[in-house]
Amino acid sequence: MTTILGLSGSLRRASYNAGLLRAASELVPEGVTIDIGSISDVPLYDADEEAEAGLPDAVQQLQTQLAAADALLLVTPEYNNGMPGVFKNAIDWMSRGPGLEMFVGKPVAVIGASPGGFGTIMAQDHWLPVLRTLRARPWQDRRLMVSKAGNVFDDEGSLVDESVRERLAKFVAGFAKMIETA
Ligand code: FNR
Repeated sequence: MTTILGLSGSLRRASYNAGLLRAASELVPEGVTIDIGSISDVPLYDADEEAEAGLPDAVQQLQTQLAAADALLLVTPEYNNGMPGVFKNAIDWMSRGPGLEMFVGKPVAVIGASPGGFGTIMAQDHWLPVLRTLRARPWQDRRLMVSKAGNVFDDEGSLVDESVRERLAKFVAGFAKMIETA
C-alpha cells in the first residue's frame, strides 16, 4: 500500500487547487491512497511562539501525516509568480523539530491550477529550491499545469474536465510508480 500526503496551498472554499487534489485522490491507481491534509489551522510562523509553546497542534498533525506517508503531493496556487505565503508558511512550520528529517529523501510532486494561461508554472518552479533545501526528492518526469481553471472546474471547485482528469490520472500513476521504486 502506498500513501501520499496531499496538501493544497489554498484556503479558499471553492479552491481550484483543493479541487485538483480531491480529483487526484479519486484517480489513484489500485493500492495507492492520497491522504488529504489541511494547512488551514497552521498559524503564521513565529520563532518566539515555537520556543515558548513548541509546535502548534495543526503542525504536529501534519507532521504525523507526513511521517506516515511514503510521499508528498503539493498542489500549489500561484500568487505573483511564486508560491502563496500561506503554503510556504505551512511547509516552514512542518520542517521544524522532528519534521526536518521527515522530508529527507521523500518523493515530492508539485502540480497546480490557475485561471491564467500558464497554470502555476512559476509557482511550481519556485518550490524547487525549497525542496532541494529540505533534501526531498522532487519527481520531475511529468508536469501538470492546469491553466484556464475557470473552464475546467465547476462553481464548487470540482474538476469536471475529462481531458484534465485523464492527464491528472497519468501524473498520479507515474508518481506512484516512482514511489514504489524509491
Ligand atoms: C493571483 N493569481 C495568479 N494566478 C496566476 O496564474 N499567476 C499569478 O502570478 C497570480 N497572482 C496572484 C496574486 C494574488 C495575490 C492572488 C490573490 C491571485 C490568481 C490565482 O491563480 C487565483 O486566485 C486562483 O483561484 C488561486 O487558486 P485557488 O484558490 O483557486 O486554489
